[in-house]
Amino acid sequence: MLGNFSYCNPTKLYFGEDVLRNLSVELAKYGNNVALVYGGGSIKKNGIYDDVISILKSAGKNVAEISGVMPNPTIHKLYEGIEIARENKVDFILAVGGGSVVDYAKALSVSIHCEDDPWEKYYARFEEPACETVSVGVVLTMVGTGSEMNAGAVITYPEKKLKIGHVFADEKIMPRFSILNPRYTMSLPKYQMAAGIYDIFNHICEQYFSGGDDNTSDYISEGLMKSVIYSSRIAMKDMNDYEARSNIMWSATWALNTLVSRGKSTDWMVHMLGQSVGACSNATHGMTLAAVSLPYYRFIMPYGIKKFARFAVNVWDINPEGRTEEQVAKEGLSAMETWMKELGLAMKLSEVGVTAEMIDDIVEGTLIMEGGYKVLTKDDVRKVLMQAMQR
Ligand code: NZQ
Ligand code: ZN
Repeated sequence: MLGNFSYCNPTKLYFGEDVLRNLSVELAKYGNNVALVYGGGSIKKNGIYDDVISILKSAGKNVAEISGVMPNPTIHKLYEGIEIARENKVDFILAVGGGSVVDYAKALSVSIHCEDDPWEKYYARFEEPACETVSVGVVLTMVGTGSEMNAGAVITYPEKKLKIGHVFADEKIMPRFSILNPRYTMSLPKYQMAAGIYDIFNHICEQYFSGGDDNTSDYISEGLMKSVIYSSRIAMKDMNDYEARSNIMWSATWALNTLVSRGKSTDWMVHMLGQSVGACSNATHGMTLAAVSLPYYRFIMPYGIKKFARFAVNVWDINPEGRTEEQVAKEGLSAMETWMKELGLAMKLSEVGVTAEMIDDIVEGTLIMEGGYKVLTKDDVRKVLMQAMQR
């Protein structure tokens, strides 16, 4: 562990089949005016809405609903929520949904009392909040983003063709608590489940493919990756397998709750490419990542060959005997490709709605990060995207 770091994660987790009852205990700690934030209606179909409303009512809360938060939430939807929250003087935000709803709740938290325009302040200038923020609690219904235990909030500005994530520095932007019931994820369509599984896996990769020192974080990452691969294969056969779905849910939280990045630089270029693809196509987050991943990893592999060979051996059980490091590294990525196909992931950009005319905008909107094995140029970004078009 050669890096210097601090570690603090204040989110309290309740995990398991019977944990919603803890919501009343948590609600008692906050004010009476609650903004209930949710998406397009899945929670009304699967009964979670009714259960949550009944707990809110029993707790005597005044509830202002902010509904219809779309996948890849937009800045315009945020402006709408700010108005509702201000009118109702909300002093607590309860997010019930997936990463989009949870991210939105955090963006709302830092915007309600903000005098600046939130897009300019948080997503263009990347400033930290100077105003009072409103606490967020979560009931999670979709697994993948890790938003339930981190300070990230991704917002899209469709007209600017930009989808930008801000990871807030202050731990108080992390949810105060998150209620994780694996059963809640079982009404997800298979496509969303698979997208979420790949999102988890890629979060780990983004933090694993960097650095050269012996680092405990990498060993934790390898264990998480093995668990995700194992459970995903079971869940693809039987989406109602509680054991597999619960392991996937727990791995998702640990994949992006700041633990496995400690003491390391991190890469995040697959996310930068995927987010720019998402800004132009509005495609499902995990699928955008899947479509660009292998072209990206094959592109950077020569610059981080040792780590890619280690990935092959420790994660994919490739036997290194009698092979060069390069051969081993390539076999690891081939094993990953086979698994991705088993999950039915998007393997090329056309599968997420990208056309050749969009490439310039996607290149333009891709932020370049510097923590990985190679710092990409805009030309490199274009090469990776063209590779992802041709597959
Ligand atoms: O809107 P509803 O009707 O609820 O439907 C949602 C949505 O259509 C549906 N869904 C959720 N739970 C369900 C369900 N359908 C049936 N049963 C359930 N139990 O699933 C669809 C996708 O939901 P969404 O919240 O958009 O998915 P996800 O959790 O993947 O979140 C994606 C967003 O998170 C951001 C992404 O960029 C994207 O905007 N990310 C946030 C991160 C963070 N905070 O750290 C990191 C990630 O890398 C990611 O960038
Ligand atoms: Zn992600």
